[in-house]
Amino acid sequence: MIGLFDSGTGGLTILDAVQKALPGEPLIYLGDHARAPYGSMSNPEILAATRSGVSRLFADGCGLVILACNTASAVALRSLQENWLPTAYPERRILGILVPMVEALTGLEWDRENPGLSNQPGQTVAVFATRCTTRSRAYVEEIEKRAPWFRIVQQACPGLVRLIEAGAAGQDIQTLVDRYVGEVMTREALQAFDGVILGCTHYPLIEDRFRAALPAGTTIVSQPRIVVASLENYLPRHPEFRTHQGSAAAGAAAQVRLLTTGHPPAVSALAGRFLGRQIEFEKA
Ligand code: DGL
Repeated sequence: MIGLFDSGTGGLTILDAVQKALPGEPLIYLGDHARAPYGSMSNPEILAATRSGVSRLFADGCGLVILACNTASAVALRSLQENWLPTAYPERRILGILVPMVEALTGLEWDRENPGLSNQPGQTVAVFATRCTTRSRAYVEEIEKRAPWFRIVQQACPGLVRLIEAGAAGQDIQTLVDRYVGEVMTREALQAFDGVILGCTHYPLIEDRFRAALPAGTTIVSQPRIVVASLENYLPRHPEFRTHQGSAAAGAAAQVRLLTTGHPPAVSALAGRFLGRQIEFEKA
């Protein structure tokens, strides 16, 4: 079984895409709504909370867990993979959602022997993310390893996840998004971006707000689509993590369990509003 972990509701954007790509695959989603938002927590807190969420999904039978959260991927993934998994769960795997984005953006898989030295004219990429993700510089470092010719600018967007999770009015969200887009353009003296990464899984839920704030025609790199493409590349090489082999199109849609550490009725209502369909969370 495949598990997806997020701090709250945002990872549903990834779950939705995975579900469409692997309709026969049983999935479990865990949103840590009780602790969210992660974007303003300390790194040790994020690490401990992510490990506890992943442990829960392992206990429920997941062999593979995707951290459907940029903050957890940026801050906790490497430490869990290197310091915890090999001794605690040597047969299981945790994947993040940050490197697939970077590989798609740069068109390059990074490899130590050939870190990519070509010298192309500067292109500007803006990363909008939580404070923890921007502070980690994970996007910047992963892009620079592969494509040092990109100019990367980052903008932390504190408060945005909290507004999304609270189901705030669209205009309040728009005001904050306008402010953050304006801040980075002024600070970096930019008129436009060549590409924009919405580096928080919550932000695709309000992509229209970013579109309205960004210069017309800005390319927004779609995280759900890219994460699914990378999973479709990974799973055939690791069939042990699939319950159903090959295309699942033949089978009926498999069960997807949605767990929350928060209050299931409130979380279900909010998630249903964002995804435009009925969603039933159960207590984790
Ligand atoms: N959804 C998460 C992310 O992608 C974190 C949001 C939060 O809890 O602050 O960064």
